[in-house]
Amino acid sequence: MNFESIKKNELAIFGGSKIRELPMPPRMAYGDNELNAIKELFKSYEARKLDFGYQDEFENKYTNKFIEYLCEGGYADAVCTGTASLFVAVAALELPKGSHIITSPITDPGTLSAIILNGHVPVLADSMPDSYNVGIDEVEARMNNKVKAILVVHAAGKAAPIDSICDMASQHNIQVIEDCSQAHGAELNGKKVGVFGDISAFSTMYRKSHGTGGCGGVVYTKNINLYHLIRAYSDRGKPVWEDNFDEKNPNQFLFPALNLHLDEISSAIGICSLEKLDKIRKKRIEYLKCLSDKISTQSIVCKPSSISNEDSPFFFPIHVDDKLISCRKTEFATAIRGEGIDINPHYRYLVYDWPWIKKYLSDDFKTVNAEKVINNSFNILFNENYTEQEAEDTVNAIKKIEGYFYKNG
Ligand SMILES: Cc1ncc(COP(=O)(O)O)c(C=O)c1O
Repeated sequence: MNFESIKKNELAIFGGSKIRELPMPPRMAYGDNELNAIKELFKSYEARKLDFGYQDEFENKYTNKFIEYLCEGGYADAVCTGTASLFVAVAALELPKGSHIITSPITDPGTLSAIILNGHVPVLADSMPDSYNVGIDEVEARMNNKVKAILVVHAAGKAAPIDSICDMASQHNIQVIEDCSQAHGAELNGKKVGVFGDISAFSTMYRKSHGTGGCGGVVYTKNINLYHLIRAYSDRGKPVWEDNFDEKNPNQFLFPALNLHLDEISSAIGICSLEKLDKIRKKRIEYLKCLSDKISTQSIVCKPSSISNEDSPFFFPIHVDDKLISCRKTEFATAIRGEGIDINPHYRYLVYDWPWIKKYLSDDFKTVNAEKVINNSFNILFNENYTEQEAEDTVNAIKKIEGYFYKNG
């Protein structure tokens, strides 16, 4: 493989012209369907002579659709954010305060906050080598007798090895929570993520593969008792499942809990958005396969992550061989972004890097694989509207930047 040697002033970050002048295609996840769904909601409530609120017709439709989508029966409750879904999922397990919960080293602060604000202690497990996801060995290595649960993140649209983690957890008699926020509809051995553990949480904020408007979340379980607790922990301790429950009588409520409902309008949007999820997944996979082929055959420095039909791509990590370039990975990736390509040069979601988290973690265990993969990768940002042209521009930008930074280039 050879490529053109590029001079410094040709790079867009140093004043040269960009590979791509046109902005990358916008996503526009919500459109006429969602608008019509909201109009239908207004009509429906007008016919019922009611103002719309929450936990009603549209949430029921949405959660039923969600359960159907996961294909394993069960129960779901829609809540106001992904962080709330994690908070409620952890709360519903009713673990003794101070329990240790093993969790993933690369994730959103919402995952960690859900553990900490429930009075528990996060124990970081490392990721598998060259992966954003934890592996079974990495989780097992962090077991101790205070561990009462494992909270596994399916990062970047790829299922973690949740089947073997669940087997291991049941041998230790501990529970498993799945954070499926970045992997709606992703599969492992033909089963969708979210159905493996005891309870699972999904963010449905607007950037996720399917969404409920600006923000939202879903908590899912197959266990009716856990579902009851999900309902109570997401709404002021109300025992909604009990006969003679009277929501106007707080004497009956069970414990203090926040009000974390999703509203009916958001649920109506969620119904439309969920209908499109499989199509979105398919288009994203097709795009990334096309991009991967181009990068694998035309770049020396960059190696795409693997991509399979089981994934539900959210962002796409590209691994950089920094021994081959004369600069740091982040400088290299920033130069690619300068060419008009949407990328995140450095994903800052490496948990043990955050100064504020340190005092809450079980110990100062360094997640070295996770650090390495973050330091040696950048993330391609994309959406289902991307076409071969965007893949072509992306690989041309990568080649151009390699042409300048390649050590022997
Ligand atoms: C893996 C993961 N967990 C939790 C969250 C938190 O979700 P939210 O922003 O909806 O609170 C996000 C994303 O935002 C996420 O990507």
